[in-house]
Amino acid sequence: MRHKISLSTMIVAIGLTFSTSVAMAADEEKAAASTTGGDARATMLSYTCAGCHGTNGVSTGPAIPTIAGMAEDTFTDAMNAFKDDEGGKNATIMGRIAKGYSDEDIAAMAGFFSKQKFVAAKQEADATKAAAGKKIHEKSCEKCHEEGGSQDVDGSGILAGQWKPYLQYSLKDALSGDRTVPKKMAKKLKSVHESKGDDAIAELLEYYASQQ
Ligand code: HEC
Ligand code: HEC
Repeated sequence: MRHKISLSTMIVAIGLTFSTSVAMAADEEKAAASTTGGDARATMLSYTCAGCHGTNGVSTGPAIPTIAGMAEDTFTDAMNAFKDDEGGKNATIMGRIAKGYSDEDIAAMAGFFSKQKFVAAKQEADATKAAAGKKIHEKSCEKCHEEGGSQDVDGSGILAGQWKPYLQYSLKDALSGDRTVPKKMAKKLKSVHESKGDDAIAELLEYYASQQ
C-alpha cells in the first residue's frame, strides 16, 4: 500500500514539473493554481518570462540574468527603469517587454519572483582569479553587496552565482555610464578599474561565478 501511494505522488509531481515547464500548456491555469509561491495570476504572468529567464526565473542562458530571489523592490525598480527610456538601465530586450505590463502586473510578478529560490549558475570559475576578486570585492563592494554579493540588500541585486556574461555587460555599462548605479559604486568601480585595469573586472567576475 505504501508503495502505491508514493508512486502516485511521484506521477503527480512529474506531471506538475512538466506542465510548468511548458510555458503555454493548455492546462496552464490548473498548473498555475497548484504551483506554490504566488497567486495563480502572478504564476501565469511569469510564464511569459520563462522562455528567456528559465522556469521560475532561474536562467539557463548566460547572457540572461536569473531573476529568482530578487527582492520585490529591486524587481519593481528594474521593471520601471526598463519601462522608462530615460530610466538609466541599458537594455537590449527588456525595454520593449516591460512596457507591456501595468503596475499591478509588476507588483504581482515582484511577489512571485521574490519567493522563488535563487539557484547559482553552473559555470566555470578560475580559482586564482576568484581569490584576487574576493579581495577586491571585500575592499570595495562588500559594503553594499553583502555576504560576497549573495544578498539583495537595498536594490543591490544578487551577484554571487549570477551569470558571468550578464554581469560583464552590467559592469561595462556601469563603467561607461550607460547604466545608472549609485554614485559611490561608480566611484569605487572606476578607481578599481583605474588601478588594475580590465584584470580587476575579470577577477571580480570570477569571484562571483565561483560561488555556487
Ligand atoms: C526575449 C528574452 C526575454 C524575455 C521574454 C524576458 N526577459 Fe527579462 N531580461 C532579458 C535580458 C536579455 C535582460 C538583460 C537586460 C536587457 O538586455 O534587456 C533581462 C533583464 C531582466 C531583469 C533585470 C534583472 C537584474 O538583475 O537587474 C528583470 C527584472 C527582468 N528581465 C524581468 C523579466 C520579466 C518579469 C519578464 C516576463 C514578463 C521578462 N523579463 C521577460 C531577456 C528577456
Ligand atoms: C554604495 C553601494 C554600492 C557599492 C559600494 C557597490 N555597489 Fe554595485 N550596486 C549597488 C546598487 C544599489 C545596485 C543596483 C543599481 C541599479 O540597477 O539600480 C548595484 C548594481 C551592481 C551590479 C549590477 C547587478 C545586475 O543585476 O545587473 C553589479 C555587477 C555591481 N553592482 C557590482 C559592484 C562591484 C563590482 C562593486 C565594487 C567595485 C560594487 N558594485 C560596489 C550598490 C553598490
